[in-house]
Amino acid sequence: MTTSRRTFLRHGLGLAAAATPALFGGTPPSPAPASTATLPDGRPAVGLSKHDLPTPALVLDLDVFERNLAKMAAHAKAAGIALRPHAKTHKCVEVARRQIAAGALGVCVATIREAEALAAGGIRGLLITSEMVGPDKIRRLLRVTAQAPDTMSVVDDAGHAEQLSAAARSAGLTLNLLLDLDPGSRRTGIAPGEPAKALARTVARLPHLRLRGIHCYSGSSAHVVGFEARRVHSEKAMAPAIATWHDLRRDGLPLEILSGGSTGTYNIDPAFGAMTELQVGSYVFMDVDYRRIGGSRGPLYDDFGAALRVIATVISKTERQRATVDAGFKAFATDRKFGPELLEPTGAVFSWGGDEHGILDLKEASREVARGDRLEFIVPHCDPNVNLHDRLYCLRGEHVEAVWPVARGYG
Ligand SMILES: Cc1ncc(COP(=O)(O)O)c(C=O)c1O
Repeated sequence: MTTSRRTFLRHGLGLAAAATPALFGGTPPSPAPASTATLPDGRPAVGLSKHDLPTPALVLDLDVFERNLAKMAAHAKAAGIALRPHAKTHKCVEVARRQIAAGALGVCVATIREAEALAAGGIRGLLITSEMVGPDKIRRLLRVTAQAPDTMSVVDDAGHAEQLSAAARSAGLTLNLLLDLDPGSRRTGIAPGEPAKALARTVARLPHLRLRGIHCYSGSSAHVVGFEARRVHSEKAMAPAIATWHDLRRDGLPLEILSGGSTGTYNIDPAFGAMTELQVGSYVFMDVDYRRIGGSRGPLYDDFGAALRVIATVISKTERQRATVDAGFKAFATDRKFGPELLEPTGAVFSWGGDEHGILDLKEASREVARGDRLEFIVPHCDPNVNLHDRLYCLRGEHVEAVWPVARGYG
């Protein structure tokens, strides 16, 4: 029997006689593979030079990453707000551990697969920011809650709350919930004001549920270009949720958490005075998308450094001003209108060349590029980019210091 299975059974059986294996079903998921520390050819990765990694390789510059962690932690402390960073960005136990060691209350996750992987890796203080709807997800939510009882998830519908209450009762568990409020994006979330207040009262009455607070994530504010425009957008989006929060607390509901915010609004939202925690994600890794939005000091958002990169090799150079690298749609996220940005030489322009190919226009490049050169790119959008790779090669300077598994996919 594996350790995680044993741990699960110990916690699970300790809960209540009603917490039967039939309810939880099947074998609990194992954490992401423990050993990603060897290369596909069996050589140990730790200690290797980055110039010897197989490409395309997803790499993390640890010095930049640690500066990002420290900067966000210091900011939150000074602003008097807690952090529960979003782990959808990294899907990685090791990153979550470091965020918590830097002072975070826990981490947010978007999928049940992320929750399972992080809970199995010992991470606590999980907030699942998507609705866990349907028998599979509810069963898995209960299993994660058995392992990590402080896990929270979100709800925007009374019928869903009733299902969660019934499932929690049969499992002999209590589920922690936040009301998911719509900041106007119409992705998920009940409308703030009366609809939200009625739902809050329903959830608070239902047995085996504990209403902990409000979740309101304004994704459409995060990438608004220009600091002042972003501030105005976020303030307008969050105001109805904040008013609802005050009303419900005035009515005596014991709400403790108002969670939201993003890397784009981390230095905007604390000033609203009501939010208790920020669920910033991308700041740890950064990407081209965020660098374009503009910061409080100028047109480049450089509050956090580009710690995440993909190393690719020039595999074809048949023309002087054009080169082809071994990284295309399957190495880089493709959900944005733009591709990755080459760190050096500057002035090169990337375009897609297919699944495994990227094309570089070198007309304006600051130096020549040769076949066999290894080039480092800032990724277009970090969250989906990480999900394309099994492992993060963590670099200290030029050398691999660690290899961290990524709990990618849905499992
Ligand atoms: C619900 C939720 N919260 C927080 C975040 C983190 O946002 P960012 O990566 O922009 O900091 C995301 C990102 O998509 C999200 O979906």
